[in-house]
Amino acid sequence: MRDLTYYIGVTLDGFIAGPSDEVDFFPVTDGFAELLGTELADIQPAFVRAGRSGADEPLTRFDTVLMGRRTYEPALEQGILDPYSQLRSIVFSTTLEDPADSPVEIVRTDPVARVRELKAEDGLGIYLAGGSLLAGALLDEIDRLIVKKYPVIAGAGIPMVRHGFQPTSFGLDRVRTFDNGCAVLEYTRIR
Ligand SMILES: NC(=O)c1ccc[n+]([C@@H]2O[C@H](COP(=O)([O-])OP(=O)(O)OC[C@H]3O[C@@H](n4cnc5c(N)ncnc54)[C@H](OP(=O)(O)O)[C@@H]3O)[C@@H](O)[C@H]2O)c1
Repeated sequence: MRDLTYYIGVTLDGFIAGPSDEVDFFPVTDGFAELLGTELADIQPAFVRAGRSGADEPLTRFDTVLMGRRTYEPALEQGILDPYSQLRSIVFSTTLEDPADSPVEIVRTDPVARVRELKAEDGLGIYLAGGSLLAGALLDEIDRLIVKKYPVIAGAGIPMVRHGFQPTSFGLDRVRTFDNGCAVLEYTRIR
């Protein structure tokens, strides 16, 4: 059975973007970039991988990415049909047109049912890229979290998960800190 991992950058007050989708206030430095380029290399956008040596190395941890329509759209608006072209990409949307000749699969039906099918297939892990609405729809299916906690309070914005009140417990596996003041916390779901 494959795991679903929600890997996400959040502020100290739990936001993944500002109220108008701002993400440029999250600090990034070289020390942190190294982590992204090594053990998380599978799930870096293809243009980031292309800029690194070893971008053609085989996938080791993840082979599938899931996106909500609003998380996918910024790439689409720049003419990038397949932002994680090294992965099998699945976008959940009831409104997006099927782009012609795109390797991206658009799913218009229940995300939970589709994720359960994916989990039952052979392969590497499944990366949930967000956003908040899709993570809320898939809350019961999330097996692992990798949370990049940034040392900034946004005050308002898009929360990590949009869902009704449903306390959901995770066990802390690992914590690492970086020179940009960011902590990366890894958790496994307690079922
Ligand atoms: N900090 C980070 O690491 C990070 C990572 C990812 C995203 N973000 C930010 O998060 C924001 C986007 O998140 P969001 O919550 O607004 O949107 P989202 O979850 O990315 O996308 C929402 C859309 O996905 C589709 N969808 C979601 N749940 C569905 C369901 N149950 N059934 C069918 N379709 C479903 C719907 O598309 P239709 O309306 O087409 O049906 C819905 O409008 C952006 O600002 C982005 O920059 C931040």
